[in-house]
Amino acid sequence: MATDHMPLDGWDHVELWVGNAKQAAYWYEHALGFARVAYAGPETGVRDRASYVLGQGEIRFVLTSPLREASEISQHVARHGDGVKDIALAVPDATEAYRQAMQRGARGVVEPHWASDANGRVELSAIATYGDTLHTFVNRGDYAGRYLPGYEPVDGPAEGGVGLQAIDHCVGNVELGRMNHWVEFYEQVFGMTEMIHFSDEDISTEYSALMSKVLTDGEGKIKFPINEPAEGRRKSQIEEYLEFNGGPGVQHVALTTTNIVQTVERLKERGVQFLTTPGAYYEHVPERVGEIDEDYDDLRRLGILADRDDDGYLLQIFTKTAQDRPTLFFEVIERHGARGFGDGNFKALFEAIEREQALRGNL
Ligand code: FE2
Repeated sequence: MATDHMPLDGWDHVELWVGNAKQAAYWYEHALGFARVAYAGPETGVRDRASYVLGQGEIRFVLTSPLREASEISQHVARHGDGVKDIALAVPDATEAYRQAMQRGARGVVEPHWASDANGRVELSAIATYGDTLHTFVNRGDYAGRYLPGYEPVDGPAEGGVGLQAIDHCVGNVELGRMNHWVEFYEQVFGMTEMIHFSDEDISTEYSALMSKVLTDGEGKIKFPINEPAEGRRKSQIEEYLEFNGGPGVQHVALTTTNIVQTVERLKERGVQFLTTPGAYYEHVPERVGEIDEDYDDLRRLGILADRDDDGYLLQIFTKTAQDRPTLFFEVIERHGARGFGDGNFKALFEAIEREQALRGNL
């Protein structure tokens, strides 16, 4: 059982550092269905960056760009391309979370402090995790504003979204031989426990393979799978990520929906591109997964994957990478009891990913 030295209230937000947040925000709004809720930049008195806060359901994404070359954001974007900088977690006490993390070997990045404006105050601190990624701790219990002090509310066009509701899990890719280091980090610093692991035998295809372990907090709200490459005949998709991301980082963010057929239809109408699934995959799905509420014809038409474990079934689909570097992508997932990650799909999925990798000449 996880010790409760690090209580987590859930996901607070995911911040991406990107080359051009003004244009990226347009894609997240018009393709992924987010709505603009707040903004900070030169017009609001911030001199070094522009940040767009987007929301859908309980999900909050922040897109931030640098304004000048001499900025840590510029250096980050040069090194990693567009990607996730911060997986921020909601906590009851950001000073205590920081103190507990530091005591257990974490590297501090932002010391605990309060930020305030007319809407109240927010307590913040941050620690480092794999690569140049951060976990910011956010205590917004005394705050009534949209996001954080310094941000001004903005109302984008109310299009109603595509039905994405919450973050399910955030996956990190780390170097060969480093997975267990980061598993121990989340065990020690966060008191998380390993809920599941996949070996290279589970997740291997003819050419590439990976190993994966999943960490979760006591209540299962936060799930962090960690991948490392495994030996294959050709370059692993994790190695491709590490090469183009310039080291470890967030591989994908999974977002929940309660109607994946409708959500994926809407995303496709808006131009979001998904990995294609081999037609042969659907010949074996009904016998492997059994009875489901959805129509298998809809899943086949849209390329949605299905899997079943002891607790129920899940439906999932993966976007193509969300930028030119083959790094970050998104998953849409609908859970019907299942607590796993679709390991029955891994082989079919990775074969699909590798077709994309081959098209890029990186396999
Ligand atoms: Fe996933």
